[in-house]
Amino acid sequence: MPRPVIDSIRKSAIHRALVTRLLLASILISVCLIVVVLYVQFKNIETQTVEQALVQSERFRFSIMDELDAPGLGDHANIQRTMDKLATGRVMPTDGHFVSVRIADLDFREVAGLNDPAYARINAIHDYIHINRDLAELRNQGAWNRMLRLGDDVVIDMGYVLRNSADAPVGYIEGVYVISPAFFSKAYRSAIFTALMVAGIVLLTSMILYPAINGLLRRVAGLSGSLLHANMEILSVLGSAIAKRDSDTDIHNYRVAIYAVRLAEELGLPENEIRSLIKGAFLHDVGKIGVRDSILLKRSSLTSEEFKEMSEHVRHGMDIVSGSEWLRDAALVVGCHHEKYDGTGYPEKRSDGDIPRAARIFAIADVFDALSSKRPYKDAMNYAETMNRLMEGRGGYFDPEILDVFVRIAPVLYETYANRYDEKPRNDLKQINARYFWPDIADDVLER
Ligand SMILES: [Fe+2]
Repeated sequence: MPRPVIDSIRKSAIHRALVTRLLLASILISVCLIVVVLYVQFKNIETQTVEQALVQSERFRFSIMDELDAPGLGDHANIQRTMDKLATGRVMPTDGHFVSVRIADLDFREVAGLNDPAYARINAIHDYIHINRDLAELRNQGAWNRMLRLGDDVVIDMGYVLRNSADAPVGYIEGVYVISPAFFSKAYRSAIFTALMVAGIVLLTSMILYPAINGLLRRVAGLSGSLLHANMEILSVLGSAIAKRDSDTDIHNYRVAIYAVRLAEELGLPENEIRSLIKGAFLHDVGKIGVRDSILLKRSSLTSEEFKEMSEHVRHGMDIVSGSEWLRDAALVVGCHHEKYDGTGYPEKRSDGDIPRAARIFAIADVFDALSSKRPYKDAMNYAETMNRLMEGRGGYFDPEILDVFVRIAPVLYETYANRYDEKPRNDLKQINARYFWPDIADDVLER
């Protein structure tokens, strides 16, 4: 496969992995910040409205200071008149207004009060006051103010000890201040806008940082890619070295790997198992390196002693791949590629699901290639002969369910690759390798 195509697969793998992580991180940070910003903003709205209510009530206190300074709260009727002016709009708060106020002396006798009859929810206010408190609470608490919702309105419920000009306690005032809907919705919109701005800044920052991070990752991935390239070459060289001992060519490894990957894809195997399968397909017979030529190259049937020695190639293979961390997962295929579904294989006579799925897949791919290829001692079988022989092993040599899936894709595989000795299997497998090993490298680079 041309280098630019591999580079493009590599870049898109890194791009995908980075964008996914950056996007997830940005969304997570944005959501957290939105929650924090909204909490702070709503606390600010509460503080602002409580201050508005306090300012209004202080204005009122100053307007009745003469009465507060007089014994027994002076002229109660004057306090009531002043309060009524408040209710009839002489005092016009722009952001809200009191709809219920009570003034009491130090013995909690009510001396003046007002209820705004024009306020639609005045009955709800009365119910709330009646249920929730007694003026005597102020003796213990000194003051209160709390924001609460009554129907669609947001109100401040407040009360505190009234003091005269000498700062001496002379009575109590409590009231309910209704925040104007216009003020509240403006403040609410402003809070939402601020939260969205913060989230937007986070996303914008991620976008600005993306090219820099991407550039760095590509450099790191480039180095990892060189390592991967070297590993893949070792895989290929090892596989070829052993193939050349008993064959003119190593092309069998490439075809078998392609057949196995296509079958694994059809079965929906996860990518890590497909990577193991590719490694295993190349190295399945690597242990033959430890078998004597007189046995490995013998054309006639092997004696039982010779067969025993030949079977040892599985153990040799396991020893070889276990020595490399990168090759270790090839053991699934290397260790079990001679096991048979009915338990008559070797070395452990495993059967059924005890044989790793990768090895069950490989067995079908390996025999399919052997039957459909020309060898020095036999001709290549045509498609019908190949499939007939393969089906003879259904449930014996091969996993029947996996074989049934293979039957669906076998015609195209036979047509495209069977008995083919040119560069196509090599080039196609390079492309497959780039697809399965590069995303792994990209993930690896991002996780370190
Ligand atoms: Fe083998």
